[in-house]
Amino acid sequence: MTNYEAVFNRCSVRKYKMELIPADFFKKLNKFLEGLSPLYPDIDWKFVLFNAMDDEGSTKGLFRVKAPYYLVCFTENDKNAWKQAGYLTEQVVLYLTAHGIGTCYQGGARAVLDEAPEGMGQRIVVAFGYPEGDLYRESGNAKRHNITDICIFKEEPTAEMSRLLAAARLAPSSVNSQPWRFVVYRNRVHIFARDNLITKLPITREMRDVDMGIVLYHMALTAEELWLDAGLVYQEQLAGRSVRGNTYVMSMMFQS
Ligand SMILES: Cc1cc2nc3c(=O)[nH]c(=O)nc-3n(C[C@H](O)[C@H](O)[C@H](O)COP(=O)(O)O)c2cc1C
Repeated sequence: MTNYEAVFNRCSVRKYKMELIPADFFKKLNKFLEGLSPLYPDIDWKFVLFNAMDDEGSTKGLFRVKAPYYLVCFTENDKNAWKQAGYLTEQVVLYLTAHGIGTCYQGGARAVLDEAPEGMGQRIVVAFGYPEGDLYRESGNAKRHNITDICIFKEEPTAEMSRLLAAARLAPSSVNSQPWRFVVYRNRVHIFARDNLITKLPITREMRDVDMGIVLYHMALTAEELWLDAGLVYQEQLAGRSVRGNTYVMSMMFQS
């Protein structure tokens, strides 16, 4: 399975076998981590992986899923730090999924580590390991909003645009909130994040930004898979624009 195929087959895994993953795999994973592509090249990041089987006390927090391993994403402090974390972490989640390893984001968890990377803040924790039950799910069984509920279609979408939106729709999100909204043209899509009372709280706003980073990665990966000449850009003229109470995040523009 490729990372792209994992977009359509992944599901959160909440029960794990307390089994070791071979050291060889961690060598490959570390190589993969070296080649991640960031959403914001100027915001530095670091992943810390740890085996929690011998150290029950190494993570704490709400909703913690018990797993043999955890992955912790750190980034430099920046207003876009949480989006950067979601964009990078989803690359690792899809890689693990494609390699037969289950994952579950842990929005309420904090890793207690001896040494945090200097000058960086902890953004998101992911539990991972071999699953006790199903690792994959048919995309039709994922609980998601209908595409027409999250998109405003200004023009008839192309087949590629429809595929891109299908991949975006399947992104995982904190409490399955699916905060993404799209204004769709044939050659561009503007991406918005849903605002409501809850997103006024810092923790929910941070998790919403992680969600937005994840969905942006699903779109970037799909564009690459389809060989589309497309890129994510922040359009200044849309800054501060709101559509039905949703805040502008970025746009994906296609070269024709
Ligand atoms: C930022 C973020 C935080 C999450 N936090 C938790 C969590 O604390 N506990 C949990 O069981 N699942 C958590 N999840 C998983 C979501 O509940 C899950 O992605 C969503 O319900 C969609 O289901 P799926 O991942 O199976 O497609 C989180 C997901 C994201 C993206």
